[in-house]
Amino acid sequence: MPEIKNIAVIGAGQMGGGIAQIAATAGFTTKLLDPFPGAIDKAKSLHDKLLARAVEKGRMTQPDADAAKSRITYINDQGDAALNNLADADIVIEAIIEDAAIKKDLFAKLAAMLTADQILATNTSSISITEIAAATPCPDRVIGMHFFNPVPVMKLVEVINGLATSPDTTERTIALAEKLSKTPVPANDRAGFVSNRVLMPMINEAFYAWMEGVAEPAHIDEIMKLGCAHPMGPLRLADFIGLDTCVHIMDVLADGLNNERYRACPLLKQLVTANRLGDKTGRGVFDYSK
Ligand code: 3HC
Repeated sequence: MPEIKNIAVIGAGQMGGGIAQIAATAGFTTKLLDPFPGAIDKAKSLHDKLLARAVEKGRMTQPDADAAKSRITYINDQGDAALNNLADADIVIEAIIEDAAIKKDLFAKLAAMLTADQILATNTSSISITEIAAATPCPDRVIGMHFFNPVPVMKLVEVINGLATSPDTTERTIALAEKLSKTPVPANDRAGFVSNRVLMPMINEAFYAWMEGVAEPAHIDEIMKLGCAHPMGPLRLADFIGLDTCVHIMDVLADGLNNERYRACPLLKQLVTANRLGDKTGRGVFDYSK
């Protein structure tokens, strides 16, 4: 199978934008596609800012930063025709909204357009790879490539095979993760994989502790930071991830593992109802408006 040289990323949010940045920095020709002009503009200015910071900190030379920037093509285009822009990609990494139906629709369209060698990877945080792959005629080339936020900083890529993922697809994906300076670690295709199966119930429990008055949010976070050496407390981390994403992942765990103990805490759900989604809306558990 050919070596991966061209990477396409669909979805220019925090995750997709970060994946495109590390791909370009690692020397890959990179395309970043998003239908929303705002998302592309935001990703572009974050890339400029982070690459400038890398130069300032002496982690990169200015010519290397300029070369990385020049390797990214930003595509702000809507509709199925936009996908034709990705025809020369060796791997397409999807990082769009966590909605199984929307992802399956996208993968079916991608599969219809791509050639026999291309890998279709999803950055889903919890949706079944087997289910997404089943929407395509080529489930052997579909794989989970789960990055962590912030992508340029976090070392892990959780690599998840669907039922039909071929050994060749897995091998090439692992090799790619290594070239991106990440550490790939395999996990099986069960709800939440490993990372969110373990992380999300802890975050959910922090909301229960808050709801039951065990401690104030800031104290819950301080206890976990100082007592368990977590870089962020669980409630701050929930804001960082997005409270809507946390509820979604808890639902996937509850449904996928058929166990109501994984259902999202009512207080977490209430904040989502109030549109307090965390960093992205300026307020979640904590207030970032100032
Ligand atoms: N993008 C790129 N780089 C970033 C960044 C971002 N969004 N945010 C911070 N950084 C870099 C900073 O530039 C800085 O590097 P530098 O000093 O060399 O320039 C370095 O990270 C440290 O940043 P700060 O000094 O500003 O702040 P902290 O020391 O508090 O670190 C943090 C910030 C790296 C985010 C740290 O708090 C952390 O590791 N938090 C936990 C993150 C985590 O758990 N992520 C996983 C979330 S779960 C997930 O993604 C899975 C999903 O499925 C839900």
